[in-house]
Amino acid sequence: MMKLLIAAPPDQMVSARRFETEFGAPLVEIGVRKFPDGESLVRAPAAAGTVIVYCALDRPNEKLVELGLAASAFRDLGVNRLVLAAPYLCYMRQDMAFNEGEAVAQRVIGGLLAKWFDRIVTVEPHLHRTKSLMQVFPGIESDALTAAGLLADIIRSDNPCPETLVIGPDAESESWTTSVATAARAPFIILKKTRSGDRKVAIAATAEDVIAGKHVYLVDDIISTGATVAAAARFLKMNGADRIDVLAVHALFNKEDDRIMLDAGVSSIRSTDTVAHWTNAVSIAPLLAAALDGERAK
Ligand code: R5P
Repeated sequence: MMKLLIAAPPDQMVSARRFETEFGAPLVEIGVRKFPDGESLVRAPAAAGTVIVYCALDRPNEKLVELGLAASAFRDLGVNRLVLAAPYLCYMRQDMAFNEGEAVAQRVIGGLLAKWFDRIVTVEPHLHRTKSLMQVFPGIESDALTAAGLLADIIRSDNPCPETLVIGPDAESESWTTSVATAARAPFIILKKTRSGDRKVAIAATAEDVIAGKHVYLVDDIISTGATVAAAARFLKMNGADRIDVLAVHALFNKEDDRIMLDAGVSSIRSTDTVAHWTNAVSIAPLLAAALDGERAK
């Protein structure tokens, strides 16, 4: 049996190939066939001592079922160690029952993935009330990689000016907005966000925040509907921002949301390729490859 393999479902092969190039182990495609009734037949194409499964978990419901089937198929072939490289991790935001009777999806999905895999590596998971990935994935190894350095590199390569200001849209973004701004050697402020619905967001700032004339880098971990970015952009433009460039780790939004953000005054939107998206401007493959290097020795 081979020592180490990378495997990915068919729809992940383009991103997985970038990871293969950085990591330098063979990549195989997991077989997935859809039955007419919507069920999936999943086939592990080969075995190895360790298999790293590459799968970004955006639009996750179908992917999760197929991932569970793939993990089981690899185990049946005798794979000893299964590692999930999920550059985007789903269901992280539902970390409590916000209304009585709601499922705590983070705990449920985390528990499932922890049963299937020995180690899970991800990029910038949305951990808010849950402080560590270890709480999400009990009993297994897990790594939360930061993409703050990659976003800071974008700002640096744009040649920041004295008017450059990094802005996080809400309190949840504070810790990593600080990291991006520090690495980019730029000042930063954090706005205040109130959400009253999926697409209903209000933004405010403290009285002393000076926005007029600034070249703003609005940074967020996830852009989902774009409502946060659009509301922040309208607020910043109203307060005299000169230019607004948006940087995000995970871009999930559709073309209509894109148009709404541009109409709100955003000049550009750039993201990492944790999720395949037309705004991808920087690859997380080197970050993932470095984090997984130790798998060669297992
Ligand atoms: C929330 O806490 C996150 O950091 C993002 O601000 C949020 O998920 C963005 O969602 P949307 O694009 O739908 O406003």
